[in-house]
Parts: sequence; C-alpha cells; structure tokens
Amino acid sequence: MTFSGKVAVIAGGGGIGGATARRLAAGGVAVAIGDLDGGSAEAVAGAIVAQGGQAFGQACDIGNEADVNGLVEAAVVRYGGLDMLHVNAADLQVIFRDSNAVDVDLAVFDRTLAINLRGHLLCTRAAIPRMLARGGGAIVYTSSSAAFIGEAERPCYAMAKAGIHALMRHVASRWGKAGIRANVVAPGFVLTENNLKTMPEEFKALALGKTRSTRTGKPEDIAAMVCLLLADDGEWINGQVISVDGGATMR
Ligand SMILES: NC(=O)c1ccc[n+]([C@@H]2O[C@H](COP(=O)([O-])OP(=O)(O)OC[C@H]3O[C@@H](n4cnc5c(N)ncnc54)[C@H](O)[C@@H]3O)[C@@H](O)[C@H]2O)c1
Repeated sequence: MTFSGKVAVIAGGGGIGGATARRLAAGGVAVAIGDLDGGSAEAVAGAIVAQGGQAFGQACDIGNEADVNGLVEAAVVRYGGLDMLHVNAADLQVIFRDSNAVDVDLAVFDRTLAINLRGHLLCTRAAIPRMLARGGGAIVYTSSSAAFIGEAERPCYAMAKAGIHALMRHVASRWGKAGIRANVVAPGFVLTENNLKTMPEEFKALALGKTRSTRTGKPEDIAAMVCLLLADDGEWINGQVISVDGGATMR
C-alpha cells in the first residue's frame, strides 16, 4: 500500500488500533498513538520503534477536548503535519449496562455518546484543519455491525455507532473536494487481547456461528481494511461504511 512518509494519529491504540498502528508503521508511516491507558499507548509505540518504525504514545481521553488537541498537536510538532486519522476508541465497559431503551440508565447513554460519538467529533475537529494544511488526508472511524443489524440490547452503543456514520458522511461531503476522505469500518466479532480475557467461550462460539467464515476476526483483519482506506490505494473510496466481519452481515 502506498503511504510511506505520511503521518497518522491513532485514537485508541488497543486491539484494532494497535494492529493498525503496527501495519502503518511497517509501511513507513510515522504514528502518534493516544489512549486512555497511556502506558499501553507507549508500549505499542515502543514495540514499533524497536522494529525500526517511527511512533510515540501518550495518554489521551477522546472525551476530553484538550487531550485530543494535545495528541494531534504533538504529532504535528514531532512529525511536521498530519495525513491520516484512525478513530478507534470506544468505552467498552459501559456497554455491559446498556440494557434497553426503556430501562437503560440515562447516565449510560450520556457516557456512551460522550466517548463513542462526541469523542469522534473531537478527533475530527482537531485533525481536519491540519489535513487541509497538507492539501488533504484520510479518516477512518470504527463502527460496528450493531449500528445497522438491529439488536434487542445495547441501544446506546448502536445509536452512537450509527451517529458515527452520519459524521463520516458529513466529513466526506463537506471536505471531499478539498482532498479529505472519510470512511467507516464496521467490524464483526474480533478476538482482541481484551476479548480473549473477558468473553465467555459460549459467546465466542455464538459469534463464530453468526459468520460465514471458518473463524472469528483478528485485529489484523480490520487493520488491513483501515490501512487500505487510509492509503493512496483507497483514494477513490469515500463516504462508505465497509463491513469486515467474515460475512456475518450482508448488505
Ligand atoms: N472487538 C470487536 O469484536 C469489535 C466489534 C465491533 C466493533 N468494535 C469496535 O472497534 C473499536 C476498537 O475496539 P477493540 O476491540 O480494538 O477494543 P480494545 O479494548 O482492544 O481497544 C479499545 C481501546 O480504546 C481505548 N479507550 C477506551 N476509552 C477511551 C477513551 N475515552 N479515550 C481514548 N482511548 C480509549 C482502550 O483503552 C483500548 O486501548 C471500538 O470502537 C469498538 O466499538 C470492536
């Protein structure tokens, strides 16, 4: 993929974001990784640097405007500009209390929207002026099939993810002619380190059963699509929600 010499910000450097950071860095991209868990962001960056890549990690809560602006600013100061943004972070703890539209605690709704949707807007606002200064750029947001399949639980999560699609279409429409592309990747069930630890075996089997594939997803499966969308190879892909889910959904 053609993206050597570019600069990327990854907001949320855990499972899928970490895999994207590693793949971009292996292709010659300088990567700034922000995560609520600053130590984990630094560890992902450290491993990239140890392999000869360019990266740094720092603590960043995407619900906090100053943190987000600080991450983008740090990337620009260190690497001279910004070309790519992958917004990957989501609060995946509050989801366990995301019951149904009648019963859900409104604090769960507020928290979900604050991180999983408003956080994506904050990242967008920080990145676009920097990309315009370079003559364009590419943004990939991380959604979920939960946004469009209709589920009996986790309505706040699904609403936030559907909101990301609207944000992405707006960005693609408003700044497409200025050289900025925006797309969404919608993963199916991906076995990240966190999921490996927390998901019961029966849930993993259920998730596999819902695919039309021989296995569940790996972070690298999603990173491959994110990198295509960020690379020049993807320069005619704009305004799309692309499922990477082993065929779990077909649209
Ligand atoms: N893993 C899956 O099965 C799956 C399926 C569909 C969608 N997704 C989406 O993929 C994205 C990444 O999920 P993942 O599976 O890689 O999870 P993960 O937990 O491995 O990574 C998420 C990262 O986001 C960070 N984070 C959480 N809150 C944050 C905040 N406020 N600010 C900054 N960072 C924050 C976490 O510390 C973590 O490193 C999420 O948007 C999730 O909704 C995942």
